Amino acid sequence: MMNLLKPYWTDPQGMGEIYLGDCREILPQLGPGALDLAVTSPPYNSKKQWWGSGANGIFPDMAHKFTRGGGWYPDEVPEDEYQARERLLVDIALSKCSGSVCYNHKVRYAFKRTGRSYHPISWLPDENIWCEIIWDRGSGVTFNSRRPVVADERIYVIGRPKTYNNIGLTTVWRLPPDNEAPGHPCAFPVELPARLIAMFTGPGDTVLDYYAGSGTTLVAAKKLGRRFIGIEIEQKYCDLAISRLRQGVLITP
Ligand SMILES: C[S@@+](CC[C@H](N)C(=O)[O-])C[C@H]1O[C@@H](n2cnc3c(N)ncnc32)[C@H](O)[C@@H]1O
Repeated sequence: MMNLLKPYWTDPQGMGEIYLGDCREILPQLGPGALDLAVTSPPYNSKKQWWGSGANGIFPDMAHKFTRGGGWYPDEVPEDEYQARERLLVDIALSKCSGSVCYNHKVRYAFKRTGRSYHPISWLPDENIWCEIIWDRGSGVTFNSRRPVVADERIYVIGRPKTYNNIGLTTVWRLPPDNEAPGHPCAFPVELPARLIAMFTGPGDTVLDYYAGSGTTLVAAKKLGRRFIGIEIEQKYCDLAISRLRQGVLITP
C-alpha cells in the first residue's frame, strides 16, 4: 500500500499500521483508492502544546518559539497558512478515498483575542459537504468572554460516502469527552469515530486517521473489524496508540 515509507508499527492481527511522521509527507504516498473512509481531527491552531517541536515539529523553523515537554507556547502560526494546509490535506485524503473524509473542527470565536472568528466551513470544500454533524460535548470552557459556553464541535462528512448503514442517528450527537486516553490532551471519545465508521464503511474496509493522536479512530476501526492506517507526528502518541490497540481490542465484524 505504501510506496516509500516503512510503518512505525504493524498490527500483529493484520488489521493495520501506524506511520510516524508528517501527514503532509506520508498522505500523498498512499495509493489511489487505498482508503474507504478518513476520520480525523487536526490541531486547532489555538492551543498548540501538542504540535511538537524541533525537527519533527510541523513548523521546524519556529521551533525556538515552542516549549518542550507539552507546555504552552506563543500562538504564532499564520491562520491563512493553517487553513490552506488543512484544505489541501482534505483534498489529498479525498483523492485517496473511495468514500468520505470526516473532519472534526470547531468555530473559534474571537481568535487570539483579535475579535475575528473562524468557522471551518470557510476553508472546507463546501460544494462537497455531505452533511454536518453537531457534536454536543455537554460542557466547555469559558473565560468570561460574554458569550455562552461553547460546548459544540462539528464533524463535516465531505464527499459521498462509499456506503450508508442506517443506524438511526440524527445530525446532533451528545457525547461527553471520555478519559480513555490519558496522556493525550484532546482524544475523541471512541463512540464518535465508531459511529462514523459503522455508518459509512463495511467489514474489511480501510479507515485512515492522518492526525491519529492517541489512536482513537484506529481503535474504533479495529473494534468494528475494519482495517486502519494512522499517521502521527509525535512518537509518544504513536506509542500510546499502539498500547491501546494492543490492549485486547475485540474485533466484532
Ligand atoms: C487533535 S489531535 C488528534 C486526537 C485524536 N483524534 C485522538 O483521539 O487522540 C491532533 C494530532 O495531530 C498530530 N499532528 C500535528 N501535526 C501533525 C502532522 N503534520 N502530521 C501528523 N500528525 C500531526 C498531533 O501530534 C496530535 O496528536
